[in-house]
Amino acid sequence: MADLERVKRQFEAVLHNVTDDVRSQLLCWIKCKINSGEWGDVTKENSNEDVMLESIQSDLRSELPVNAMSQTESIHFPQTGPNADCDPNTTVHVDAFLYDDDAIDDLCEEGKMSRSYCTRCGSQEVQPLTFITHSASATQVKYIFNYALPDLSGKIVLDVGSRTGAVLYGAYLYSKAKHIVGVEIDSTFTRLQTAVVAKYNMADRIQVIHDDILNQGQLLMSSDVVILNNVFEFFVPKDLQEKLWIHLFATLKNDTILVTIPSLEESLQPLKTGINLEKCVESIDLTAPLQQGRQELLDCDDTDDSDLTRINLYRVLAPHSPCQ
Ligand SMILES: C[S@@+](CC[C@H](N)C(=O)[O-])C[C@H]1O[C@@H](n2cnc3c(N)ncnc32)[C@H](O)[C@@H]1O
Repeated sequence: MADLERVKRQFEAVLHNVTDDVRSQLLCWIKCKINSGEWGDVTKENSNEDVMLESIQSDLRSELPVNAMSQTESIHFPQTGPNADCDPNTTVHVDAFLYDDDAIDDLCEEGKMSRSYCTRCGSQEVQPLTFITHSASATQVKYIFNYALPDLSGKIVLDVGSRTGAVLYGAYLYSKAKHIVGVEIDSTFTRLQTAVVAKYNMADRIQVIHDDILNQGQLLMSSDVVILNNVFEFFVPKDLQEKLWIHLFATLKNDTILVTIPSLEESLQPLKTGINLEKCVESIDLTAPLQQGRQELLDCDDTDDSDLTRINLYRVLAPHSPCQ
């Protein structure tokens, strides 16, 4: 047996003979050594897909203000539910697709953003600001399409409320989905996504539609994967949110996979929809993809994996009924 093959077997035997905890720590230690450069430059180059995604992020950063909000949209701060404590005066909108934690630190150093506010002007009594993102981060996008979802060859992916298009570009670069559609109600973001799709020659598989998802029943019905990243909570009043969720569940076809951030339980809890989730969907277990995604996407000293754990997958069970 060639040397390399023998060493690989020995290494796998070591991994096999230790507890899950030790295995995880050992792999993290190896990753740290590689990342620190202590073992020389053994990291592989960024993939073409990663380079392209980074270039899109950079283009979007130059097109949008730091808070990545558009002038044509209005925000509805939730009055009930887990985000009801978001005070418009102390909540900062940061787009996680455009700015990761390191980039936010840079913005703070440059004085373009702050992580805290003064409770009594001039005093040292500072409180942390609430940060809220309206986009999936690049890490989340990679996790969804590289780890969480099955092979999407020939499938139709729909992102409801596609905003900057993060999910669309991710689906294009990291999956084999045949058709990728974003429906966005805001005109500025629709224009922005359309421009990116044209610039990066992605129109062969990506379509951006400027519309209210309420008008897109046929598309909802034909989609195999539907992404719902906190799509309504900050953008429409509560009564309309209820109408939208009821419409979604009455329209989706059997076996469609839903990718949601946060869980459906959390999104629906403050609303009166009458939707009985136990009858409408079954949850898909993400234990294995999560473990792999953590190891391969997060830095080894990154203890916060909530970016990934907030992502949920469900299979639709009961189509065309109110699921009550
Ligand atoms: C939280 S952002 C999600 C962004 C994107 N899906 C992602 O993961 O990066 C929600 C977006 O949904 C849009 N939206 C809200 N209600 C909508 C509706 N009824 N139809 C289409 N888009 C809607 C908002 O304008 C906003 O840009």
